[in-house]
Amino acid sequence: MTKQNVYILGIESSCDDTAAAVICNGKILSNVVATQKVHEQYGGVVPELASRAHQQNILPVVDQALKQANIDKKDLNAIAFTRGPGLMGSLLVGTSFAKSLALALDIPLIDVNHMQAHILAHFIEEDDYDIPEFPFLAMTISGGHTQIVKVTDHFEMEIIGETIDDAVGEAFDKSAKILGMPYPGGPLIDKHAALGNPKAYPFTKPRVQGLNFSFSGLKTAILYFVQKQVKENPDFISEHLNDICASIQYTIINILIDKLKKASKETGIKSIAIGGGVSANSGIRKALKDGESKYGWKTFIPKFEYTTDNAGMIAIVGYLKYLKGDFSDMDVIAKARIKF
Ligand code: KG4
Ligand code: ZN
Repeated sequence: MTKQNVYILGIESSCDDTAAAVICNGKILSNVVATQKVHEQYGGVVPELASRAHQQNILPVVDQALKQANIDKKDLNAIAFTRGPGLMGSLLVGTSFAKSLALALDIPLIDVNHMQAHILAHFIEEDDYDIPEFPFLAMTISGGHTQIVKVTDHFEMEIIGETIDDAVGEAFDKSAKILGMPYPGGPLIDKHAALGNPKAYPFTKPRVQGLNFSFSGLKTAILYFVQKQVKENPDFISEHLNDICASIQYTIINILIDKLKKASKETGIKSIAIGGGVSANSGIRKALKDGESKYGWKTFIPKFEYTTDNAGMIAIVGYLKYLKGDFSDMDVIAKARIKF
């Protein structure tokens, strides 16, 4: 008997990206993202402006996702959407849109936890990508999150470490801001770091208990260091930009890898999967690959388009929940803060 095709539309609107994707039996047919440029001039995401931009973008983005997938909305079997965590105003746009569409098409609605989705993005079927076997450790690193999660099944996850203050992406972006770079500065730090000496300026690593992280102290240390140097030499930043960026990146990567080593040792798990925008960082990618020979890790780094905020990851969770018949009631509400 041939397997029947299941088409799910995924909608993501938790922060500043309006995204829609169509998945068919675990394979992505389209993955559309409208990144909101409006925040650049403010050096960070402005929640009120994000909600408005979602309102504007959501219909064209969904329309484009259906067109690229070459299906009609009537072919859809369910609508999956991000319920949280995220910015309330942003989440409300996606949630209301998903509800209306599910109601109009008379198909199931599936709510998705954004953090679970970053992890389950590894289950999107791609020709050249190995899917991790359980159990594995997932490290989610982005502008909004920094977590180490022990994953024993698709929906059995335990957060074993997380940031107690800033997310790692914020550490990159705030450091970049101190150096006068535009938002988001993470990719720029990465670019300059490639040309600099990572040991030029040693920054102290924070001492945090267990598997938790802290990045706010590092940001302050960088600020004071830069202010002091600029007082002595007003051109310090421009003259040493590559070395400063390399040193910042080196410190951040060490913080992440130290905790991963500890987590792997404590749990005995050597399969490590990463997700979130910061996993695009070339230094962290290299450090993880090095971990394969140094510590016997098997590492999983998904395609870039599935690591940053996207709706493909919402669609795969929708598909996995659809297979279990795990649907939402129509009175489901968006939640800014939710754990697993
Ligand atoms: O997952 P994402 O697109 O959105 C959320 O924050 O949820 O992640 C964006 C974050 C930003 O902080 C950005 O600076 C960082 O990922 N980022 C990077 C790199 N590319 C993106 N950080 C360091 N190196 C990169 N190459
Ligand atoms: Zn995210």
